[in-house]
Amino acid sequence: MVDALLGLQWGDEGKGKIVDFLAHDYQIIARFQGGPNAGHTLYIKDKKVVLHTIPSGVFHPGLMNVIGNGVVIDPVSFEQECNEIEAHGIDLKKVLVISERAHLILPTHKALDKASELNKGVNKIGSTLKGIGPTYMDKTGRNGLRVGDILRPDFQQRYEVLRGKHLDLLGQMKFDEDISEWENAFFASVEALRKHTIISAEYYLNDAIRQGKKILAEGAQGTMLDIDFGTYPFVTSSNTVTAGLCTGLGIAPQHVGKVYGISKAYCTRVGSGPFPSELLDATGDTLRANGNEFGSTTGRPRRCGWIDLVALRYACLINGVSDLIITKSDVLDGMEQVGVCTSYVMDGKETTQFPYDINEKEIEAKFDYIPAWDKNLSDCESKDDMPRNFMRLLEMIEKHTQVNIAYVSNGVGRDQLISMKGNSTKP
Ligand code: GDP
Ligand code: IMO
Ligand code: MG
Repeated sequence: MVDALLGLQWGDEGKGKIVDFLAHDYQIIARFQGGPNAGHTLYIKDKKVVLHTIPSGVFHPGLMNVIGNGVVIDPVSFEQECNEIEAHGIDLKKVLVISERAHLILPTHKALDKASELNKGVNKIGSTLKGIGPTYMDKTGRNGLRVGDILRPDFQQRYEVLRGKHLDLLGQMKFDEDISEWENAFFASVEALRKHTIISAEYYLNDAIRQGKKILAEGAQGTMLDIDFGTYPFVTSSNTVTAGLCTGLGIAPQHVGKVYGISKAYCTRVGSGPFPSELLDATGDTLRANGNEFGSTTGRPRRCGWIDLVALRYACLINGVSDLIITKSDVLDGMEQVGVCTSYVMDGKETTQFPYDINEKEIEAKFDYIPAWDKNLSDCESKDDMPRNFMRLLEMIEKHTQVNIAYVSNGVGRDQLISMKGNSTKP
């Protein structure tokens, strides 16, 4: 059986922490899309670790970790990440396997990402510049290089062919930065990548399913960044939704069990693109400061706003979320009031449906407000401790999404997570 764990907003919902918490229930944790654009934070013995390409189960002894075919790998950032993890005494050659079908991010992909963003000017996506878009373009354009290719004797020639195409494109885009340093680093890191366990991950995972093992598929980014269902074109280049795990791991849909959907108790976005419930005022600044909302991968300040139940309901629908997990509840402690976006007004009409195009249109978010609570969520140890007004927020989320909340996270630590199971969230 395979359970999924996904972000329901614009990324950074706290997926890393929750995977790390749930990992002891599983034998395998598998990443199925994205690449080093992701930054998943966890705390190991009070030490902060940010993972980019490697699954967040890697610190659990006895667990296997899989990088699936749907992931794109930059050998350079992968090697750096491996070194950081191995410094904690973990032998990745034993606990990590990589699909031979995963695509490689080349130095020229990163250059193309940068050139493309420069050419777009004010319309830039706000990409992490990790080469994600150009690598997935080469994958669907049937030009890409895969991890398995590094084991072939003619890898260098294949590399040169693709590099040549990219240099032509970069010339047309008037990009003339010297990338020779990146290329040297790339080939050194490809050597390191060759020493890892490169396999047919689809056979490995399906064998594990047959043996009754439990797999947790760890999503990266979030539903509103999905290439099909996100706020296109301000999205990433992969399917971040539940369906993406089938193509990104080679697992058939009937094996999918629970779908854990993660949402903050408010909302953030990093990079460009529409954000209907964004707060451009002092309240947004307070959320950023209290929630330490700065990108885990790029360090950029995250845009902050109130939770958006129109978008969240849509995300639950597309993903078939069975269990909601609300993170960063403690960040709302001390706010004068907490806003909840319940509908949009577009062209003078109120709607609770997520529109096809929210880039070009003026959207007004309609809010309900919940008064402040007097007790800190960060001090709560069980559901019964939670302040009444916070419970009202949870009730609204459940009512709009029609999904039960399984856990509420109230701090960065592995165990700062309150189970809501047993009874309903209604007091
Ligand atoms: P991911 O990309 O979804 O894994 O999320 P990130 O790691 O990019 O960002 C989430 C940030 O919030 C990290 O710094 C986490 O340590 C932190 N975090 C996770 N859960 C909580 C929580 O319940 N409360 C607080 N205050 N911080 C949290
Ligand atoms: P995790 O897994 C938040 C955003 C970028 C940009 C857009 C496209 O940590 O939640 P890309 O580099 O993919 O071409 O960027 O998507 N983005 C993320 N935002 N969390 C992420 O990952 C993100 N990965 C990409 O900021 O707006
Ligand atoms: Mg992140």
